Amino acid sequence: MSISKWIILFYLLYVIFAVSPKDSFLINCGGSKAVELDDGRVFEPDFGTSDVGLSNNPHIVVSNTEMGVSNLYTSARVFTRTSAYTVSTKQIGRHWLRLHFYPLKNSQYSLESAVFSVVANGITLLHGFSSSNLGKNSPLLKEYVIEVGGLSSKKLVLTLSPWDGSIAFINGIEVVSVPDRQFPSSAVPVPLGASLEIPTHVAFETAYRINVGGLLLTPKNDTLWRTWKTDQPFLVNAASARNVLKDPSSIKYPAGVSVEIAPNWVYASAQEMADANVSDQKFNISWAFDVDEGFTYLIRMHFCDIVSVALNSLVFNVYINNQSALDSFDISRKTMSLSAAYFIDFVTNVSTGSDRILVQIGPPNLRNLPSNAILNGLEIMKMSNPSDSLDGNFSADSIDSKATKSDKLVKLVIFSCIGGFVVLVLISAALFLYFCRKKSLKHQPVVWLPLHTHVGSSHTKVSAGSLTSTTPSHGLGRILAFSEIHEATRNFDESLVLGVGGFGKVYRGVLENGDVVAVKRGNPRSQQGLVEFRTEIEMLSKLRHRHLVSLIGYCEELNEMILVYEFMAGGPLRKCLYGSNLPPLTWKQRLEICIGAAKGLHYLHTGAAESIIHRDVKTTNILLDENLTAKVADFGLSKLGPTLDQTHVSTAVKGSFGYLDPEYFRRQQLTEKSDVYSFGVVLVEVLCARPAIDPALPREQVNIAEWAMNWQKKGQLEQIIDPHLVGSVNLDSLRKFGETAEKCLAEYGNERPTMGDVLWNLEYSLQLQETYIQSIADENSANYIPDIPDWIPHVERVGGDGADIVSDQESNATTSTGMFSQLMNPKGR
Ligand SMILES: *[C@@H]1O[C@H](CO)[C@@H](O)[C@H](O)[C@H]1NC(C)=O
Ligand SMILES: *[C@@H]1O[C@H](CO)[C@@H](O)[C@H](O)[C@H]1NC(C)=O
Ligand SMILES: *[C@@H]1O[C@H](CO)[C@@H](O)[C@H](O)[C@H]1NC(C)=O
Ligand SMILES: *[C@@H]1O[C@H](CO)[C@@H](O)[C@H](O)[C@H]1NC(C)=O
Ligand SMILES: *[C@@H]1O[C@H](CO)[C@@H](O)[C@H](O)[C@H]1NC(C)=O
Ligand SMILES: *[C@@H]1O[C@H](CO)[C@@H](O)[C@H](O)[C@H]1NC(C)=O
Repeated sequence: MSISKWIILFYLLYVIFAVSPKDSFLINCGGSKAVELDDGRVFEPDFGTSDVGLSNNPHIVVSNTEMGVSNLYTSARVFTRTSAYTVSTKQIGRHWLRLHFYPLKNSQYSLESAVFSVVANGITLLHGFSSSNLGKNSPLLKEYVIEVGGLSSKKLVLTLSPWDGSIAFINGIEVVSVPDRQFPSSAVPVPLGASLEIPTHVAFETAYRINVGGLLLTPKNDTLWRTWKTDQPFLVNAASARNVLKDPSSIKYPAGVSVEIAPNWVYASAQEMADANVSDQKFNISWAFDVDEGFTYLIRMHFCDIVSVALNSLVFNVYINNQSALDSFDISRKTMSLSAAYFIDFVTNVSTGSDRILVQIGPPNLRNLPSNAILNGLEIMKMSNPSDSLDGNFSADSIDSKATKSDKLVKLVIFSCIGGFVVLVLISAALFLYFCRKKSLKHQPVVWLPLHTHVGSSHTKVSAGSLTSTTPSHGLGRILAFSEIHEATRNFDESLVLGVGGFGKVYRGVLENGDVVAVKRGNPRSQQGLVEFRTEIEMLSKLRHRHLVSLIGYCEELNEMILVYEFMAGGPLRKCLYGSNLPPLTWKQRLEICIGAAKGLHYLHTGAAESIIHRDVKTTNILLDENLTAKVADFGLSKLGPTLDQTHVSTAVKGSFGYLDPEYFRRQQLTEKSDVYSFGVVLVEVLCARPAIDPALPREQVNIAEWAMNWQKKGQLEQIIDPHLVGSVNLDSLRKFGETAEKCLAEYGNERPTMGDVLWNLEYSLQLQETYIQSIADENSANYIPDIPDWIPHVERVGGDGADIVSDQESNATTSTGMFSQLMNPKGR
């Protein structure tokens, strides 16, 4: 290509990007080099870039490397007199302005005692700000929305003014374009009235951004690098609300709403009215937020109906500061669909003498509708007042005059076009590359995919139709010679036996390359075993996942059926729960194990090209490695799930007694929800540490699923938990876990959640437990299960020396390390 063509190409690129380049300036104040944050963003030093200017007043850099703080906070720029940063933006319009303050320790200045004011484009952001009340190791991030344009043209001027005798400092600045239509031009006032205009010069400060009922979302989880906090600290009465979670990938964005309004994580979680068992179920869920008196606030509410099964069945009221905001509101009339995102903006005045905003949702006054109400997300933004201030009643002029007279503001502006056409071309090319990279980074679809997914590269092509072929096809795991296995197990030495199952024995072996493996040797006379043997190879060859046990190879020589797996040092989950002398697992370990297993099953159901139903989920088929990472094992009974045009797979009933989905048993129709049921049994087994079926117990206790659900429905599940857990489990975490198990054990498949939903609920339960552990560390919290329950479960006496009193079929499974499934004709339940 000739030079002239290149020039034309660059020129075209320049024109394209000159039209509407998005701004994204990430500035590391006082830093000598670019630093990368945990979330992958790179902050460039504040010197040496043409788009960022710094007034030439004296300023000093201080730095210090402290443990446990972000790289951005190892340096700061310190000002002894009023100084300004000028950022030359490419776009006019609203921009996010995020300021990072961290009073790092250094030998020159005491940043904790700094008192200063900050003004951006004529808007007072901070007045007489002091970081002295920030906790140790807690940086402050302030987020604003400032208009660029008008008189300041394409510039954002950020002025820092130390108070008399003091200093000002800053660690980091972000200037990022706000997408069009992110902020409304008008909003509904509360008390209700005619819609109010919001002029573009009005600036905003983020007061609260809340992912109601959900997890903390960090900048990494948000396309616009926002943080969404959890709502628990603001709930007035935590018992009035119950959170609901859905798989985020199921959220739909109708026209007018995008992930830039809020990520799907926000819409996939909500608080709904807890079943308070009061007559008529009439109460509000309330959240209270501390705010500054005398300011107007923009309140954005995010709604998404993730609780209803039909349209027009969820109708509720919304109040702001005891005033009606929405009356008999029906989300589905706005979205015409369930699980669809919707948001609405209100403005409200916080009168002088008041310092909080109360947001409430409650049931409608209509009689014939179920009492429920939900909220998914909430943003509260302070709006600049008529003095153009976001902090008190101090206009930018009053701050200017306060600054030392001799200290006239010098604004150094460097325009990017100075270097002539060639420079423009080079910059535009660089921009082009930069934004291409940025786009690909930022616009990755935010969908839930299991972590660490490695679908077997060469194995994915194996089709299910080849199940009966006897010649092992290419890429089905490694074929091992019998002699190799013979050697690895020292001629199937009895001392190496890890367990015995109906199908044969499992040995510990060491391959020639030193890998420790589990060798499962089938009984060649079992015809049934042959089918399972093939299924296991076919399935496991297609699947590679951190939470599925991996098949290393197999051997079919000399009529043998031998499978070789990675060795799982922790053994089956069941053995770690009861019937052995292993130390009891903590609640956190149990939750992490359940989460791991749920990830494995979620991957089976949704991760591969065709969905796979395990059909034999139980505690003996969940194996643990030396780090207690859970892996799902034993795919001998697995089936490909229903295809798109089928609702189920009709098949003979197989599985393990005590874990079997009653619906599948009745109708012989298999869906993924049968695994969900079995997983529910696993959850209660983990909680109670006793076998799924224990015929030695009194009649009502024999079946753990029935027994536990009786207690769960009474709201007293804590009465029957493993005595080892008593005193260390957070009640909220336990409730969430109990609720999740209850949903899994629902009578009908379509009432049960997907494994994705189960996974989210378990993660939430874990988060509740971890917050609780942290809070006991902080202070002595009273929210724990107080004492040994009056009534001690009988399960303690089961096991002991490892000899469980269980049914025949069960005892086989007990001692095996994930042997081929125990086949049986269930006699019904
Ligand atoms: C947010 O992102 C982090 C890092 O990618 C991830 O570990 C975490 O699970 C995400 N949280 C949510 C709620 O998606
Ligand atoms: C609700 O109240 C009724 C009657 O007062 C009681 O029988 C029932 O057990 C209660 N349910 C729950 C979940 O507390
Ligand atoms: C709302 O009502 C409650 C109870 O009546 C009262 O305590 C509170 O002060 C009211 N809040 C506002 C902002 O009016
Ligand atoms: C909910 O709160 C509003 C405003 O504070 C109040 O008017 C209403 O009576 C409350 N509803 C219930 C059921 O308590
Ligand atoms: C807030 O107060 C201002 C001035 O008193 C008034 O113009 C505005 O309409 C009020 N806004 C709301 C939402 O009531
Ligand atoms: C803010 O300043 C304006 C003009 O100086 C004044 O009219 C108003 O009363 C002040 N507001 C407050 C809350 O002090």
